[in-house]
Amino acid sequence: MRRTPRPLVLILAVSALAAAALTPLTSAEEKVILTPKPGPEPRINGARVFGVRPRSPFLFTIPATGERPMTFAVEGLPDGLTLDTATGQITGALAARGEYAVTFKATNRSGTIERGFKIVCGDTLALTPHMGWNSWYVWENHVTDGIMRAAADAMVSSGMIDHGYQYVNIDDCWAVKPGSNDPTLQGPERDARGMVNSNGRFPDMKALTDYIHAKGLKAGIYTSPGPLTCAGHVAAWQHEEQDVARFVEWGYDFLKYDWCTYLGGGRDKTIDELQRPYRLASAILAKQPRDIVLNLCQYGMGKVWEWGASVGGNSWRTADDLGGRFEGIPAALFRDGFDVYSKNELHRHGGPGRWNDPDYLLIGYLSDWQGGTAATPLTPNEQYTHFSLWCLVSAPLIFSGDITRLDDFTLNILTNDEVIDVDQDPLGKPGRRVAKSGDLEVWVKEMEDGSKAVGLFNRGEGLAEVTALWADIGVQGRQKVRDLWRQKDLGVYKDALKAFVARHGVVLVRMWPEGK
Ligand code: GLA
Repeated sequence: MRRTPRPLVLILAVSALAAAALTPLTSAEEKVILTPKPGPEPRINGARVFGVRPRSPFLFTIPATGERPMTFAVEGLPDGLTLDTATGQITGALAARGEYAVTFKATNRSGTIERGFKIVCGDTLALTPHMGWNSWYVWENHVTDGIMRAAADAMVSSGMIDHGYQYVNIDDCWAVKPGSNDPTLQGPERDARGMVNSNGRFPDMKALTDYIHAKGLKAGIYTSPGPLTCAGHVAAWQHEEQDVARFVEWGYDFLKYDWCTYLGGGRDKTIDELQRPYRLASAILAKQPRDIVLNLCQYGMGKVWEWGASVGGNSWRTADDLGGRFEGIPAALFRDGFDVYSKNELHRHGGPGRWNDPDYLLIGYLSDWQGGTAATPLTPNEQYTHFSLWCLVSAPLIFSGDITRLDDFTLNILTNDEVIDVDQDPLGKPGRRVAKSGDLEVWVKEMEDGSKAVGLFNRGEGLAEVTALWADIGVQGRQKVRDLWRQKDLGVYKDALKAFVARHGVVLVRMWPEGK
């Protein structure tokens, strides 16, 4: 006899349902922390593959949770690389191209854990989606050196580094702003060699990247191919070689290249015009003695996903600013996150070294664009939905709220290792929507080990039962199902999985054929 799958009832869903009749649902949801805290025993997290070019400076910090002190070891570390056994930082440089299979080990007084890892020395960077933090959505035009240092400190003290977060990226507003009345934004735009200068809020860029690197993290910077950035600061137009050389001199590892004022800033451009600045930048980057990941930002113009990789982009923004309007963030999540992706079948274009970028993680405290900060307008369920979708579609996980003010709920969204494993899976195969029935959607990502990550989403205004059919997911027979947000096995199911899902919420699972 066929067994009827048990429905999964979310605690969140129930609280939303109870409140539905009386109050607006958005203000009624509780912030239920679903993810158990990591235990004292060591666990190695994050990416399992890392790309580097021959002779470039190498930096990778083994992300591991568990009680400190912890000692690290690497079996099979190739010549040229050195491990700091106390911090897990691997540095040096590789001379020869090739794939190096190594084993990471982490030991503390609760035990030892091992995990395989692959270093690929070749031409491709960003073999898994970037993980990190960006200053824009919380600090926008008042970012400073002190803020960036505090962000690096917080990435370590919050433990985010132990889950694989790596990049600490300045967005716009570090360069001089022509015509500004603010003395900290004035000064010579370039030095005698024509190299771009930072403004008075960034007195010593090299010291800043040294500070970030010393923590085992990487540093990112931002400019535009136009004469000015979107916020009106000096940008790279006709100084492309010098500015990339400057970023190398300063020690940056990541560049966001934002269209802004290029060719007058209009959107009525030919594909050749759209591609030109990115081809130029990536050709210049390829010549540098340092690896710099290239993030294209041009809001999806000319179906950038179809050619972003061919012009050297490691990732490309797929739509306008997700947080362009603070109150508009929930609507943008569904429109620019879900719909832009499925309508354009973006899963066909992403992969190792080339990722669709639906913009930053807009949770925690964000800029209110009036000089202050405010808690994200996303409801708790929308925040689970946001992070789950980003992982299912292999999006960069770049948090852009206030990293120095992380509450437990926000941290639980950002640091669930089993959910992050979906994003960082080494196969790098972006997921896609496989079923839609009104407001209910099922999304699936194929994982390297043959399992499937499955998201059951409810975009509707009330509690609803979502059914994920095996035929849609592409599996057969009995499947062992695990709830990833709760890190809990749910049992074995056949033919379908049904779940009651709250308004704008998700149930995220991973399934393996029984016996595997
Ligand atoms: C554009 C980008 C944003 C941000 C701002 C900075 O709007 O899309 O991500 O970088 O510029 O001015």
